Amino acid sequence: MSTAPKTFEEWWAGSHYRSFVKREGVPLYEDSYLENLATLPLSDWERRGGKAAYTRLGDQEVVNLQVIEIPPKGELKPDRHMYEAVMYVMSGTGATTIWQEGEPKRTIEWGEGALLAIPLNAWHQEFNSSADKPCRIFFGTNMSQVINLYHNLDFVFNNPFVFKERYSYASDGEYREKAKHWTKRLFETNFIADIKKFSLDTWEERGARTSIMRLYMGNSGSQIHILEVGEGTYVTAHRHGAGAHVIQIDGSGYELLFMPGGEANPEQRRKVPIQPYGVVAPRMNEFHQHFNTSKGRFRQLAFKGWDQRLSTTTSRGDYDPVGAARSDNPHGFSFKLRYDKEDPAIKKEYYRELEKNGVTLRLEPLDQGPG
Ligand SMILES: [Fe+2]
Repeated sequence: MSTAPKTFEEWWAGSHYRSFVKREGVPLYEDSYLENLATLPLSDWERRGGKAAYTRLGDQEVVNLQVIEIPPKGELKPDRHMYEAVMYVMSGTGATTIWQEGEPKRTIEWGEGALLAIPLNAWHQEFNSSADKPCRIFFGTNMSQVINLYHNLDFVFNNPFVFKERYSYASDGEYREKAKHWTKRLFETNFIADIKKFSLDTWEERGARTSIMRLYMGNSGSQIHILEVGEGTYVTAHRHGAGAHVIQIDGSGYELLFMPGGEANPEQRRKVPIQPYGVVAPRMNEFHQHFNTSKGRFRQLAFKGWDQRLSTTTSRGDYDPVGAARSDNPHGFSFKLRYDKEDPAIKKEYYRELEKNGVTLRLEPLDQGPG
C-alpha cells in the first residue's frame, strides 16, 4: 500500500527540464545572478562532446542558457531541436555548420563577440578552429519551456519535421550581416560578427546616455536586444515577468537586485558586481538596476522570453516606432521606479563608486530604462 507524501519535498517531482539536465550529467546553475559565464565550472558532456552546463536563472523555465566549451581542434556532435537557440561566442575562434533537408550546408566562421541564430530544428555543428585554445560559447534558448511542454526528448531532439520558412529565411542571401533595419531600434538578422562593434540606435529624447538595438533573429519568437548605458549614468530600477537574461558584454559596474520593499530598505537590496560575461536574470517582480562605473562603454546583451512584434497582446510595451516616451503607457507590462521616487541613497552610493574609479562625468539617470 502506498503512503501519501507528507512533505512538499516528498511530493514534488521537479520539472522535466531538471530531469533532462540531470540526464545530461552536467551542472545546473540557479539564482538571479552568475558572476562570470566565461569561468563557470563545466563538466564533460557525453551527448555532444566538449564540456557543458545549464542554467535555471530567475526561478523560471522559459529562457535558459546552455554554456559550452570546445577543446582545441575539437568539435561538437551535430544537434537539432524543436526549440529556438541563439549562440554567442565568449572566447576563441571556430565555425558552425548549419543544414537541413533540401537546403545547402552553410558554414559560418566566428570569433569573440559573434551572435548567430540557429533556425528552428535545423542541424547545427560547432567546431573549434584553434590548435591551442579552447573556445567558450553559450546558447540562449527556450529549451526549458519546450522540454516541459512536450516532455518527450525524442520529439524535441529527433524530430524529422522541416521548418522550411525558418530556414529559407536564413538562406535568403548569405549568413552575414546583410539584414534589415526595420525601423529605428529594430534590426532583423541571423548573424552579427561582433556585437561589441555593432552600431546601436540612440534615443535622442534621452540624450546620449543610452542606445539600443532590438534584434529579431532566426525568424523566431524570442526577443534579443543590445543595450549601451553611457559613462557616468545608470538605468532606473524596474521589474517585470521572469525570463529576461542580461549578459554583460563590455565595461563593468554593479547591479542592484531587490524584491518590492527593497526600494525603501537598503538592507533588502542585493548589490553584485557586473563585468564581462556576468549575468543577471531577475525573478518574477524582482527589481533590477544597472550601474555603469567604467570609463566609457557599458554594453549588455539581453535575451527575453517574449517578442513584442509577435506578441499576443496589443500592449505596445517598450516598442515605439515613433520614439515617443513610454512613461505614460498604462498598458506596459513592466514597472519602473521613477528616478524622483528612488531612495536618494542609491544615487549617493553610485557617485561614491564613480569617484573610486576616477570617473568625473555625471549624467542624470533615465526615468524609463529599458532592459
Ligand atoms: Fe529588465
